[in-house]
Amino acid sequence: MKELRPDELRLCVADAFLNRWMLLTAGDYASGEYNTMTVAWGFLGAMWKRPVAIAVVRPTRYTYTLINVHETFTLCAFPKEYRSDLTYLGTHSGREGDKIARTSLTPVAASSVPAPVFEEAELAIECRKIYTNEIVPENMIDASIEADYPDGDYHRVYYGEIVAVHGSDDYR
Ligand SMILES: Cc1cc2nc3c(=O)[nH]c(=O)nc-3n(C[C@H](O)[C@H](O)[C@H](O)COP(=O)(O)O)c2cc1C
Repeated sequence: MKELRPDELRLCVADAFLNRWMLLTAGDYASGEYNTMTVAWGFLGAMWKRPVAIAVVRPTRYTYTLINVHETFTLCAFPKEYRSDLTYLGTHSGREGDKIARTSLTPVAASSVPAPVFEEAELAIECRKIYTNEIVPENMIDASIEADYPDGDYHRVYYGEIVAVHGSDDYR
C-alpha cells in the first residue's frame, strides 16, 4: 500500500461498505488492547472543512467499549479472498477471546494513530474521533428504519477525522 491524500482516494463508498464490508478497529496496538469487527454501514465524506469517516456501532459490541475509551479508530478494506475472515469477525465477539488469532489476518501498527491496521488490507483509513452522537428513534422520518432495531440497541455514530490513508494502486 502507498500513502494517499484523503482527497485523492478513489472508492465507490456504498459498494465498499454494503457489498464488500470493512473492518472497524479500535484501541491501542502498542498495549495490545484493541478489537476489530466487520462493518457494512458507514460513510466517507467531508465535514467541518475536513475529510471524515463515519462508523456506527451498537452498544452490544465489545468494540463499542474500546472505541469509547480510545481516541482513534481505523477502517480497512480487503481483497475478496479474506471474505470468510470478515464473516468470522462479524459473527464472533472479541469479548470471548482473541478472535483475530483465529483468522488469517495480521494486526500491524498504523502510520499515524494508536489503533492498528492489518497487513493484508488493500485500503487502510486512520481516523481520530472528533464527534459522536446517537441514533434517536424520535428522529426517524422513515418508520421502516425501526425494523433494524428489534432489541432497541440503537447505534452510536462516530465521526473520525481522516488523518492518514494507505491504499493499493486501485484506490488512487
Ligand atoms: C457483514 C456485517 C456487517 C456488520 N456491520 C455492522 C455495523 O455497521 N455496525 C455494528 O454495530 N455491527 C455490525 N456488524 C456486527 C458486528 O460485526 C458483530 O456483532 C461482531 O461480532 C462484533 O464484534 P465485537 O463484539 O468483537 O465487537 C456487522 C456484521 C456483519 C457480518
